[in-house]
Amino acid sequence: MAWKCWLKIALLCFVSLVSVVLGTTDSGDYAVLDEFRRGLSNPELLRWPTNSKDPCGPPQWPHIFCSGSRVTQIQVQDLGLSGPLPHDFNKLAMLSNIGLQRNKFTGNLPSFNGLSNLQYAYLGGNQFDTIPTDFFVGLSSLQVLTLENNPLNQSTGWTLPPDLAHSAQLMNLSLSHCNLVGPLPEFLGSMKSLTVLKLSYNNLIGGIPVSYSGLPLQILWLNNQEGPGLTGSIEIITNMTLLNDVWLHENQFSGLIPDSISALSLLTRLWLNNNRLVGPVPESLINMSQLQSLRLDDNMLVGTVPKLSISNFTYAGNSFCQNTPGVPCSAEVTALLDFLKDVNYPTRLSDSWFGNDPCTSSWLGISCSNNNVSVINLPNYQLNGTISESLGALDSLVYVLLGGNNLAGPIPDNMSSLKSLKMLNLSFNNISPPVPRFPTSVKVLLDGNKLLQNPPSPGSPPGVGLPGVSPPSTDSPTPPNQPSSSGNGTKSSRKLNILVIVVPTVVGASVVFVAILLLFFCWKSKTNVFVAPNSTTTQPSKATNQDNPHKLVAKNVVNSSTSTSGFQSIASSGTGSTHAIDSGNLTIPVQVLRSATGNFALDNVLGRGGFGVVYKGELHDGTMIAVKRMESSVLSNKALDEFHSEIAVLSKVRHRNLVSILGYSAEDNERLLVYAYMQQGALSKHLFQWKQLELEPLSWKKRLNIALDVARGLEYLHNLAHQSFIHRDLKSSNILLGDDYRAKISDFGLVKLAPDGKQSVVTRLAGTFGYLAPEYAVTGKITTKVDVFSFGVVLMELLTGMMALDEERPEESHYLASWFCHMKTDKEKLRSIIDPSIAITDETFEGVPVIADLAAHCAAREPHQRPEMGHAVNVLASLVEKWMPINDDQEEYLGIDFHQPLLQMVKGWQAADGTTDVCSASLNDSKGSIPARPAGFAESFKSSDGR
Ligand SMILES: *[C@@H]1O[C@H](CO)[C@@H](O)[C@H](O)[C@H]1NC(C)=O
Ligand SMILES: *[C@@H]1O[C@H](CO)[C@@H](O)[C@H](O)[C@H]1NC(C)=O
Ligand SMILES: *[C@@H]1O[C@H](CO)[C@@H](O)[C@H](O)[C@H]1NC(C)=O
Ligand SMILES: *[C@@H]1O[C@H](CO)[C@@H](O)[C@H](O)[C@H]1NC(C)=O
Ligand SMILES: *[C@@H]1O[C@H](CO)[C@@H](O)[C@H](O)[C@H]1NC(C)=O
Repeated sequence: MAWKCWLKIALLCFVSLVSVVLGTTDSGDYAVLDEFRRGLSNPELLRWPTNSKDPCGPPQWPHIFCSGSRVTQIQVQDLGLSGPLPHDFNKLAMLSNIGLQRNKFTGNLPSFNGLSNLQYAYLGGNQFDTIPTDFFVGLSSLQVLTLENNPLNQSTGWTLPPDLAHSAQLMNLSLSHCNLVGPLPEFLGSMKSLTVLKLSYNNLIGGIPVSYSGLPLQILWLNNQEGPGLTGSIEIITNMTLLNDVWLHENQFSGLIPDSISALSLLTRLWLNNNRLVGPVPESLINMSQLQSLRLDDNMLVGTVPKLSISNFTYAGNSFCQNTPGVPCSAEVTALLDFLKDVNYPTRLSDSWFGNDPCTSSWLGISCSNNNVSVINLPNYQLNGTISESLGALDSLVYVLLGGNNLAGPIPDNMSSLKSLKMLNLSFNNISPPVPRFPTSVKVLLDGNKLLQNPPSPGSPPGVGLPGVSPPSTDSPTPPNQPSSSGNGTKSSRKLNILVIVVPTVVGASVVFVAILLLFFCWKSKTNVFVAPNSTTTQPSKATNQDNPHKLVAKNVVNSSTSTSGFQSIASSGTGSTHAIDSGNLTIPVQVLRSATGNFALDNVLGRGGFGVVYKGELHDGTMIAVKRMESSVLSNKALDEFHSEIAVLSKVRHRNLVSILGYSAEDNERLLVYAYMQQGALSKHLFQWKQLELEPLSWKKRLNIALDVARGLEYLHNLAHQSFIHRDLKSSNILLGDDYRAKISDFGLVKLAPDGKQSVVTRLAGTFGYLAPEYAVTGKITTKVDVFSFGVVLMELLTGMMALDEERPEESHYLASWFCHMKTDKEKLRSIIDPSIAITDETFEGVPVIADLAAHCAAREPHQRPEMGHAVNVLASLVEKWMPINDDQEEYLGIDFHQPLLQMVKGWQAADGTTDVCSASLNDSKGSIPARPAGFAESFKSSDGR
């Protein structure tokens, strides 16, 4: 037997001899690995022997696995390697599994073209900056490909080449955060093995392709598309019956949450927040017992918040009628929501019809009388669908004005028995017979409905236009102006190409009432030419204006691109107007405002703003308004600019956290702006003067909500679809509180349109000391980050109850911003400056440090260190909905939590424990107790013309 043993030993010796001298590894594979190692700046981390040319060994090199002489795996994840990959990487022809994730690889990603054995490719979390077009060719065995978190083709973006369609076994495709652009690739719908698709944080647009129906997806992440985001319905996901985890948040998805969502019996997490979804939350969701986490916040959902037995259910920022799950809406609201349903939930209405009281929350198109809905005024709203029977239950209705829409179907029978109805205008729709018999007291306008050749409406001759409306008595609700049916036919011809000012209807109706009264007067005295809405009259006639500058023209306008309003009056500006107002008109005669404010009585002064005094007023119908009156002594060009700027801006923006303008006057030396009245007044009052004014101090909850409201308003201002506005004068006295303590930002006189791109513009210094960002004070350069700074200061005020600038305080604390940053580095010090009127509870205990960090982050010295407002919204929203425990359930999928930058950042802050936060780091060159202010900061205060 011994010879056999000897033979074995000899063989072994030979084999090892061969391997030492020649190596068993394929020389091409070795060459690639060698080039790989040489390219790295830190190859020592690999611990590859420098004297061996035989990666396959024995001994095998660390991180390398072979089959025979060929390299099959490279596993170097999380080693911190930095450098490029060799360009001929695809010569490793037998490679089946490669793990390069979470290193610092840079440069071009080499082509993987032809790696037909490759099954698993983990390349995420690196710094690869280009991907070649032929990367995906011939990857016929590919099952997993992750490229997420690489700055691939950043400047141009890239689209997924269809070559990938040939990887028929692909199960997991993770391309989040890697600059994909364009629509979702249609061809992915043909990949019948795909179970994980993660495309978050790209720049994808368009809808989810129909071809995706029936994909065996378990995880679908399409959230947080930068740019315009994904659009269209989410209905198709209900056909992906294996779905377990769905992230569609932070996009522009619209339409309903489909009832059939309950077909997804494996779904455990559904995040739909921050989209444009409308309609109610489907009942069927309630029965999805396997669902563990549901996020619906910041959509336009209406109706009742469902009572779900899920702990992780968020729904703030919608149009629900109640905040409490399970509490039903009032009968009136239910009826109006049924109406909304039958016109397919148009977004403008879904957005504005929130809360449980149509009469106080300025619902678009709704006016009230004695706290009951009396007017539905939605002419030319491009409404489609049918008229709901539910209107027949609203006995308080007096005027139903739906002319110039696209409504089909018959008029519900029960509408003919509405007790108070005086007018039903359905002209220029597509109403079909039969028409119910209305009492003669009701004016029914039905012309322009081609299915009703002979409108059998008693007592209402067709073609009755506005002059036929009899002026209402003072105690009956005021009829808004009508879409005139004497005009010429088509809806488009009635569209006027001017900007439209938002008219919340309660007051809007009164404003128009005034216009109508005047019109009526003019009509009677035969000095006026009534101009029918017609495409030829896009502006009040010049000749007429010269003849008589007070002549009024009332008409309906709708502007499809900017429109948020159904009606308004257009009047020539007053005689004394030196600055033309281009942005559409909503003038109110000074006389009306004079009587509303008791001739600007001192008793009615609400406050003093930048260029004038704000008065409380009450219109004849009881509507409360706030009137800002410019002092005639300051009618400088600058002040006039602010006046016009405010009208121009407010006519373009509309958001529930920005005050809305109701109208203005510009006659002779009067310049007046009219806003909805905010019952609780300025935030500053509640923070700094609550004792004198005998108010309740603001609770922590209210403060958080206010902060979130303000953040949302600013975010909106900064991120309008095509433009970005900078407020420039955010401060607590410009933040107004409604009866419910919801906040709105006001005072838009200094708002600037941000230039395209993100560069800054140099402007005249304006704003308020204490809130001014340092770079702005010094250089006059503004970006949206100027507002972020001011917001940081407001947060500090909310936390401390101290004013942004107070010369009465000891010198080091004159400026809250710099002092706060200094104090917050130390927990004890931070505690000592928290507003003593905030009760310390578990909630505040957890929230205070987060808000303090956010405040400091926002008020960081360098603009680039400050976050975008969206970040602040996220931080605040998560607090408002109770503090979410940081237990990364994301980690179950990937190990790295890149989808939750918020949580990561918060974690980072908590770890740093105040020692390295942005705001103190930027100021820590001052060793003493007073952080240095930037050079020139103080001087710029003195030399400027601020207020
Ligand atoms: C990425 O950019 C490079 C260089 O600009 C270009 O050659 C390549 O085709 C781009 N990749 C894709 C997939 O479009
Ligand atoms: C969803 O599946 C149903 C039944 O399989 C099918 O009728 C429907 O067309 C699918 N929907 C889409 C959008 O493909
Ligand atoms: C839901 O929240 C609880 C704590 O409130 C947490 O433990 C759990 O992991 C969360 N579940 C999901 C699916 O997010
Ligand atoms: C009907 O109106 C809804 C809501 O505005 C809109 O989404 C939908 O596209 C419209 N449908 C048609 C056929 O115009
Ligand atoms: C209606 O249109 C016709 C031409 O199409 C025009 O001559 C006429 O003046 C218009 N009528 C009104 C009231 O605008």
